[in-house]
Amino acid sequence: MNGHGTLAADSASVDYTLLERQVRALLDGEPNFIARAANFAAFVYETLPDLNWAGFYFPDERGLVLGPFVGRPACSPLPPGRGVCGSAFVSRSTQIVEDVHAVADHIECDAASRSEIVVPLMDKGVCFGVFDIDSPSPARFTRDDAAGVERLVGVFVEIVSGNAGARHESGDLARVLALGRAHAALIGDLASDIDSLLDATAIAVTLSHLDTLLRAHLTFEHEWLFPRLARGENALLRKRVERLNGDVADLAEQWDTFRETWRDASTIAADTAGFRREWNAIARAIDGCLAAERDDLFVAAEPLIQH
Ligand code: SME
Repeated sequence: MNGHGTLAADSASVDYTLLERQVRALLDGEPNFIARAANFAAFVYETLPDLNWAGFYFPDERGLVLGPFVGRPACSPLPPGRGVCGSAFVSRSTQIVEDVHAVADHIECDAASRSEIVVPLMDKGVCFGVFDIDSPSPARFTRDDAAGVERLVGVFVEIVSGNAGARHESGDLARVLALGRAHAALIGDLASDIDSLLDATAIAVTLSHLDTLLRAHLTFEHEWLFPRLARGENALLRKRVERLNGDVADLAEQWDTFRETWRDASTIAADTAGFRREWNAIARAIDGCLAAERDDLFVAAEPLIQH
């Protein structure tokens, strides 16, 4: 049990890798932010020896306001930029204080606290709060502890911001899917034009439009759509993305070869039968990819969109 009077911590005995795994499992089970923050503070308090306080502060217009914590009731708000917490928040860097009495700007909430670490909560360059732990022992925290607590806080940020991100991206995802569908429909139209055109020059012109659109679509899938769909928690969707990603890469290669062979109207006019044969093959491959995307991937992605 933690608390006053325990022996000074042997930080080498703390297995932060194990704690990281455990805290991830603890947070994954509950989507609510307050519950996650509360359990995170309790987890740290219970697993690190020789603490008397562990908890969050989050900013509002008054300064840093107390969040979920374990320990004695604490000061709130902390004036903007003030105290060890304010320094961590403003500088966006972890603060290790060996002796709180030696730091003029330390804000004392519990006279028993003697040393402290404060880690900023950073999400994509933005600091959205701090996590503070206090000990009744002077110089309780080593650099290894700071690095370890940063790793635990990293898991917390990753899990909670993943959620915020997903909510945020829902509308964005709807637009991305609509764009994907529009590309696919145009590609389908151009492909059926090529099926019915007889004139080599008209075919070559349509092929070059198709080339532009198909490449844009493959890039859009590869760099924009697939990474968005694959980073969610839906394992089925991830699997479908993986498979389709392979198909898309194959198609891109096939398309390059096809384009190299049928570069212009004169090559097409010189071997119409050969062109038709190879066009039919590549058109089937394009159609297969678009159908998998439409019937498999987009359908599986639909539930991610909040209508
Ligand atoms: N000591 C902190 C204030 C928070 S308490 O320790 C819980 C500070 O100086 O920012």
